[in-house]
Amino acid sequence: MKNKKKIVIANWKMNLSLKESLALTGQIKKKISRLNLVDKQAILCPDFLAITEISKILKKSKITLGAQDVFYEGKGAFTGQVSPKNLQTTGCQYVIVGHSEKRALGEDYQTINKKAKAVIAEKMIPIICVGETLAERKKGQSDKVVANQIKQATVSLGKKGKFLLAYEPIWSISTSGSGQVIDSQEAARMFAVIKKVLSSRFINYLLIYGGSVSPKTIADFSKIEDVSGVLVGGASLKADSFIQLLKNA
Ligand code: PGA
Repeated sequence: MKNKKKIVIANWKMNLSLKESLALTGQIKKKISRLNLVDKQAILCPDFLAITEISKILKKSKITLGAQDVFYEGKGAFTGQVSPKNLQTTGCQYVIVGHSEKRALGEDYQTINKKAKAVIAEKMIPIICVGETLAERKKGQSDKVVANQIKQATVSLGKKGKFLLAYEPIWSISTSGSGQVIDSQEAARMFAVIKKVLSSRFINYLLIYGGSVSPKTIADFSKIEDVSGVLVGGASLKADSFIQLLKNA
């Protein structure tokens, strides 16, 4: 699938209070409305608590609403979970599934696959995350690990199932503590590996890079062949920085 617009996804994680989330949304909306960013798509992924209020702010704006997680069941005795249907009714269109910070808490790819399917069933688009650890990279296992993650995450998704595949080398995430970031050539090589795995199985997917993306480095990654955009944590937490990301993507 080809995407003409460059996508910038803000993953605010658990960094903002409700008040801060609403204020940041308002600031971003105001700034974007003054710009003519026709070839860019902004997706905001606040925490669950903020999502309904933010959806009201984003009505009639060009900004798209996303979520950081979801549960795969539709309804029932699942304390603490949020259903895909409830997310969908807020106007949420994208859902991050299997972020490495969830995987670090025990989420496996069988669960990630269930979540991706449940998101698609509610006519939303999953942002499926994959990526190797530093230890796996050092052992030369990156290609194999990522290929396996993709295969597990996409089991019976259907050839036409629409999804974003976010490659986030875990050691490149700004808070990983490794102090290292993948260079764009190696990222491009990894995307070639990823495309090989995906292209024979699916037709409706887009590729996204994530890990320490900043206004300075965004173009290095967003311009990699067949990469449609980026998933950003730290640099998405300030309105000016997020706008700069959109401009430079
Ligand atoms: P970062 O986070 O941009 O702060 O590295 C990216 C992510 O974890 O999705």
